[in-house]
Amino acid sequence: MKTGISRLRLTNFRSYPELDISFGTGGEPVALCGANGVGKTNILEAISYLTAGRGLRGAKLSDVARHIGEEVYPLWSIVANLYSPFGEHQVGTGMVAGADRRQMRIDGKSTSHQSDLADVFRCLWLTPAQDRLFCGDPAARRRFLDRIVGAFDPLHTNRLSDYQAVLKEWFCLLREGRLDNAWLSGLEEQLVENGIAIAASRLDIVERLGTYLSVTEDASFPAAEIKLTGLLEQALLTQSAVAVEDMFMGHLRAARKSCAEGGNLTGPHTSDFIVIHRQQNRSADLCSTGEQKALLLSIILAEMRAQMAEQGRCPVLLLDEVAAHLDARRRHTLFDVLTTRPAQVFMTTTDSTIFADFTGQIAQFDVKEKQEIIKVA
Ligand SMILES: Nc1ncnc2c1ncn2[C@@H]1O[C@H](COP(=O)(O)OP(=O)(O)OP(=O)(O)O)[C@@H](O)[C@H]1O
Ligand SMILES: [Mg+2]
Repeated sequence: MKTGISRLRLTNFRSYPELDISFGTGGEPVALCGANGVGKTNILEAISYLTAGRGLRGAKLSDVARHIGEEVYPLWSIVANLYSPFGEHQVGTGMVAGADRRQMRIDGKSTSHQSDLADVFRCLWLTPAQDRLFCGDPAARRRFLDRIVGAFDPLHTNRLSDYQAVLKEWFCLLREGRLDNAWLSGLEEQLVENGIAIAASRLDIVERLGTYLSVTEDASFPAAEIKLTGLLEQALLTQSAVAVEDMFMGHLRAARKSCAEGGNLTGPHTSDFIVIHRQQNRSADLCSTGEQKALLLSIILAEMRAQMAEQGRCPVLLLDEVAAHLDARRRHTLFDVLTTRPAQVFMTTTDSTIFADFTGQIAQFDVKEKQEIIKVA
C-alpha cells in the first residue's frame, strides 16, 4: 500500500467555503488542472497544513481564513483521511473560537504539539516561489535546507528558533550599550552550544543526502552536488567539535565591540547552501531556469528516497506549477518517476494536455470556478 490522502475536507479555507474531495486509496499521482485563480494552490496549501509550520506559502493564519470583501470567516478547518502501510488516521487542523494558534486533532484527540503531526503525515513541496532559490537571498536557501534537516533531526527546528532568539537578545544588549559581562557570556554559551549543534546537523544531513543524490532518476535530471559554506560548518570539517566551540566563543567575544557599533556577526545564521550541477560542473545560480528547476526536483526526489530508506516513511509531495520551465522530455521523465513513488504526489497545472500520455496512471481533476472539482481521468 502507498501513503496518501483519501479524502480532504475544507471549511472556510481561502477561496473554499466548503470542499469535500475524495482521491481513493490507490496512491496514484493527483493532477489538479484549471485556469488561473480557480483554487489549485489553495488545495496544496491546505495539505501542507497537515504538517508542522506555516504551510507552503508561509502565510499568517488570518490570511488563510476565507475573506469576501470586508467580510472574514475566521474559523477555518482542514480535515484529511490518511492511509499508509502503517494504518489509517484522521488529521484535523484549523482555528477554533477563542484560540490564537491553530489547533490540531489526530484521530479525534487534540494535541498542542505540531511535531506530533510528523508521526502520521509528512510532506515536501516545491512552489514557483522557489524557482529562483539559487539566485536569491541566502536566507531562503538556509530555510530550504533547514526544512530538510528538520525532517531527519527533530531537535533542529527548536535549536534554530532558540539560536535566533538568543542572538536577537545578544544584539539588543550590545546595541543598547548594556554591557553586562555575565549576561552576555551566558548568551554566548547558549549561542555556542546551539550553533555547533545546528552546523553539525546540517553537515551530517548534507553528507547523507549526497549519497541519495548520486542515484539520479534519469539523465534528464541533473546530478546535484550539495555543499555548505559557513564559519562553523567549514571548521567542523577539519577540527573537533570542542576546538570549534572554543573558536566560536572567541569569535563572539571578539565581535562584541563591532556588533555594538552596528556591525554584523557571522555564524550559522549566515551560512549558505551551495548546489552544483555535476554534469556541467557549474554552480546552480549560473544554470538555466529549467536546469535550476530540475536540480531542485532532483534534491526533493533524493529527500523522498532518503526519508523512505532511513525512516521507512515516504513523504507526500506537493508540486505547484509542476510543468513550469520543464521541457516535454523532462516532464515526461518526471511523470514516469512520480507514478512509481510509494507516496501520493499532488501537482497543479493550467495545462491538462501535459498528462495526455499518462491517462489511467495520473488521476486528473478539473478545478472549476465556484470551487467545484470534478475527476476527469
Ligand atoms: N483568504 C482568502 N479568502 C478568499 N479567497 C482567497 C483567499 N486567499 C486567496 N484567495 C483567492 O483564492 C483564489 C484561488 O487562489 P489559488 O492561488 O489557489 O489559485 P490557482 O488556481 O493556484 O491559480 P494560478 O494558476 O494563478 O496559480 C484566488 O482568486 C485568490 O485571490
Ligand atoms: Mg497556483
